[in-house]
Amino acid sequence: MQLFDVYPVNDITIEKALGSNVWDDKGTKYLDLYGGHAVISIGHTHPHYVKRLTDQLHKVGFYSNSIHIPLQKQLAEKLGKISGKEDYQLFLCNSGAEANENALKLASFHNGRKKVIAFRKSFHGRTSLAVAVTDNPKIVAPVNETDNVIFLPWEDEAALQIAFEENDISSVIIEGIQGVGGIRVASFSFLQKIRVLCNKYEAVFIADSVQCGYGRSGRFFSHDYADVNADIYTMAKGMGNGFPIGGIIIAPHIQASYGLLGTTFGGNHLACAAALAVLEVIEKDNLIENAAEVGAYLMEELKKFPQVLEVRGRGLMIGIELPESLAHVKKELLFKHKIFTGEAKPNVIRLLPSLALTREHADEFLAAFKKELENN
Ligand SMILES: Cc1ncc(COP(=O)(O)O)c(C=O)c1O
Repeated sequence: MQLFDVYPVNDITIEKALGSNVWDDKGTKYLDLYGGHAVISIGHTHPHYVKRLTDQLHKVGFYSNSIHIPLQKQLAEKLGKISGKEDYQLFLCNSGAEANENALKLASFHNGRKKVIAFRKSFHGRTSLAVAVTDNPKIVAPVNETDNVIFLPWEDEAALQIAFEENDISSVIIEGIQGVGGIRVASFSFLQKIRVLCNKYEAVFIADSVQCGYGRSGRFFSHDYADVNADIYTMAKGMGNGFPIGGIIIAPHIQASYGLLGTTFGGNHLACAAALAVLEVIEKDNLIENAAEVGAYLMEELKKFPQVLEVRGRGLMIGIELPESLAHVKKELLFKHKIFTGEAKPNVIRLLPSLALTREHADEFLAAFKKELENN
């Protein structure tokens, strides 16, 4: 059998990983500033994480949601404490798309409405509702097309106001920092305007925190910078440091009932152990503060390069906009300097490293980046 060939891959096979480094099958060491697409939050193969998962696997790896799973309650408690959303309710699932799917569905169950506001350049996943609110027609199949989604320009408060006045809006979904869209930070006033309009029209504010959440921005949720509380936050990526887990946290005014949401694998023992290990390390090693500090340092240094058109982001979610003539730099960083980075088309290098990235790692990247820019 052949693999269904949907992923263009780099010719690299990773066999070992530790902290912010990975090694290929020839023993070559790489610096990982990509984290497998913002997934590695506490660092690869962190000893506490490995131990907690291994210990759990020896006890019980999986049972469904038809029995008590105390680890889920422990996770909800710890997540509430670290995120500051102690009065919210947690529903666990398995991926970012599934988190957004459940959030949009729950909003619609809650207020009985159909229309959703999403924004240009958004990415929310590939399942039916998640892809319908994603601004990329290439990945929307005919069966996913719907009139229920209204796409608005990013940061256009007047358009937002009109959309609320003219439609019966169920929910607004927004990334606090657009990831795939090129690392674009939502302004405080725009997030506050969404909050005000959702309050006025009793719509649900959904904060897609799949990529920008879980401490990556230097606050637990990047939306926190704007001093607003969303009604639902969606999470995945960094939540399990590579173990597939997603979730939504739901404000207290949205009520649960048996059967409203559900999933076979969501919240299983092993996934909860992974997520708990992640939060324990985030807390013990002050990784959110580290992301803020090392990220601010990186951004400050990157802004000094005259070739760089713009540096955007917060914490360790950084976009470096380059002129088209330097579009090849990402590849050179990988193959010449052995540094993994991400990209947003056409010319944005995306840095999405572990939240435990050190200043020394940052300097290693800056030296390679400098060399590469000097060569061009
Ligand atoms: C902001 C955002 N939302 C949702 C998703 C979808 O997550 P998943 O790939 O886990 O389904 C992604 C993935 O890149 C994302 O960046």
